[in-house]
Amino acid sequence: MKKVLVTGDRGYIGSTLVPALLKKDISVIGLDTNFFTKVLGNPQTVKYKKITKDIRKIEEKDLYGIDAIIHLSALSNDPMGDINPKLTEDINYKGSIRLARLAKKAGVKRFLFSSSCSIYGIGKQKIVDEKSPVNPLTAYAKSKIKTENTLFTLADSDFCVGLLRNSTVYGYSPKFRDDLVVNNFAVHAVAEKNIKVLSDGTPWRPLIDVRDLSDIFEKFLRIEKNKINGKVINIGFNDNNLQVKDVLEVVQKTIRGCIVEYTGEHGIDTRSYKVSFALFEKLFPEIKQKWPLEKSVKDLIRHLGEAKFSKIDLENKKYTRLAVLQKLMDKHKLDKNLYWKKL
Ligand SMILES: NC(=O)c1ccc[n+]([C@@H]2O[C@H](COP(=O)([O-])OP(=O)(O)OC[C@H]3O[C@@H](n4cnc5c(N)ncnc54)[C@H](O)[C@@H]3O)[C@@H](O)[C@H]2O)c1
Repeated sequence: MKKVLVTGDRGYIGSTLVPALLKKDISVIGLDTNFFTKVLGNPQTVKYKKITKDIRKIEEKDLYGIDAIIHLSALSNDPMGDINPKLTEDINYKGSIRLARLAKKAGVKRFLFSSSCSIYGIGKQKIVDEKSPVNPLTAYAKSKIKTENTLFTLADSDFCVGLLRNSTVYGYSPKFRDDLVVNNFAVHAVAEKNIKVLSDGTPWRPLIDVRDLSDIFEKFLRIEKNKINGKVINIGFNDNNLQVKDVLEVVQKTIRGCIVEYTGEHGIDTRSYKVSFALFEKLFPEIKQKWPLEKSVKDLIRHLGEAKFSKIDLENKKYTRLAVLQKLMDKHKLDKNLYWKKL
């Protein structure tokens, strides 16, 4: 792949993925509306072409000369649907489908969609695979399954569509976010030495480090198209299906003296699912996990320490996606549809 457009390049996954692609001599163009500007640690120095634009406003001409798209931009987690479920539908579903249709028209050859294992919701089966019934519990999860289903219909011999159902991501990335389960426990451990858990610790989650996921996206650009075209593929590692209490154990081991309080309530997040990654392993037998939980948590805690992450950072919620968007709206920088206001 010569030229790859990464939407959402300035987000949590994108800010790790882009340098990884550049390292492999892939030419990258980023497209992002730039909602999140706070970097954990030193500012990024990687140089590549960046388009600052809302995905809903993309035009066919933006896509000329692009060989493949890795589509990350989205309102990117479950509680974000709380701002306004229609916005999640507009950006995540309609925005993605419009982008894919324009891409196909513009002659883009490959389209990789960043979906999510959260569409499995509470798994009724012991282990869910790509053929299991889905149970999307939130506007976010609903937008992901609807997008997968429509993208599937666009796949043909000239337009390869890969549907990556990703595990929940963890680990250090320049555009860090603290609203993902592992990262959230890590920031509370560092800032307060106290973690409140809104469950009894038993829910299962499939987890993956952001650097492992970036390598996987890169492999998806290179794999023979027939192997992935029109396919939903769960992305993760079988031994990284972990219970919340396993994650806490690792965090407590790294931050000694950290107290964990189980509140027993489930909060809004009632997900629990164990996922099979057999198809992924079959397609990519050469990919091995490089960042298991313990290694990644240690590394993240080091980064948080170097950045002097404090209780004030926690309270300011500057790494929390929903809070940042809410603040930008309260300050009238974004309108109610999440478009930047003209100054
Ligand atoms: N982080 C995870 O655990 C995880 C798991 C599975 C799937 N995913 C999916 O991967 C993708 C990236 O996730 P992330 O964690 O990097 O999220 P993120 O919120 O850090 O990044 C999303 C990026 O998209 C941009 N964006 C949002 N709306 C936009 C719009 N209308 N136009 C242009 N840009 C827009 C934001 O500015 C941001 O830079 C998302 O689609 C998310 O649903 C994430």
